[in-house]
Amino acid sequence: MTATIIAVANHKGGVGKTSFAAHLSFRAAELGYRTIAVDLDAQANLSRCFVDIDSVLDASSAADLFLSKTAPAPISTSEPNLSLIPANPGLSDVDGTDLQRLFNARTLLQAYDAEVIIIDTPPQLSTRTISAICSAQLVVCPFQPEKFSLEGLTDILTQIATMRTNINPGLREATLVPNMVANNTPYHHEILTEARKAFGDSINPNQVSRSIEIPKAQEHRRPVWRNDRSRSATEFRAVSDSLLRLAGLHVDDQVTALAEVV
Ligand SMILES: Nc1ncnc2c1ncn2[C@@H]1O[C@H](COP(=O)(O)OP(=O)(O)O)[C@@H](O)[C@H]1O
Ligand SMILES: [Mg+2]
Repeated sequence: MTATIIAVANHKGGVGKTSFAAHLSFRAAELGYRTIAVDLDAQANLSRCFVDIDSVLDASSAADLFLSKTAPAPISTSEPNLSLIPANPGLSDVDGTDLQRLFNARTLLQAYDAEVIIIDTPPQLSTRTISAICSAQLVVCPFQPEKFSLEGLTDILTQIATMRTNINPGLREATLVPNMVANNTPYHHEILTEARKAFGDSINPNQVSRSIEIPKAQEHRRPVWRNDRSRSATEFRAVSDSLLRLAGLHVDDQVTALAEVV
């Protein structure tokens, strides 16, 4: 069985890539899908969302996806159904001009025995990010509603469109998700209106508000909707469900609706 692969990418840092990758992984696993989270950023922030990083230093890391003929074995996490291919500090060394590495990673990723694979990427359009985009069925691009963030979105959309035309026809339209939205501020409202004009349906109708509960949940290695009833908790679960659906997975509408009233 081939896994559904979702890559989270945006070459700007600090926009919420790792938070989205973590929450998508938690949600897919919670819904019962056998899920592997893959951390392609040498900063290892996604790995830290699931395990104590010191405890996995000896595990085979995501670098092996690029450098080895054998896929790294995912390590288990305390979440049922969720395992992890962790990052390590040497991961950035795999970037370069050797295209063989990029396709090596795609072949190994697509061969995993899993139902869902969520890939977090570094803040560059490097070999690692491109390999994630050319392996995936869906690319999710979180962005902050700020003028400079919008400018960068055109670059990533162009890369994704090129990849779909030439290398990965199974890739759907990328979806751009507003994150860290300060509700009721005219500035964010204005920027989002402008973004919808410029990018049309590529802008996801869902969004995630700014909330301190999100970094707090990550520190405690749990999704924000567990132990929290805030607006951003509800939003993050709804957005995760909608993204999993967009990638072609079955998520019952009622499951999302029920979760919202619990
Ligand atoms: N909606 C949000 N509200 C508040 N803080 C957020 C939100 N989304 C992400 N963060 C926090 O912002 C920081 C950067 O997010 P992160 O997901 O690491 O971005 P990236 O992976 O793109 O660099 C992290 O501390 C994260 O917990
Ligand atoms: Mg990150």
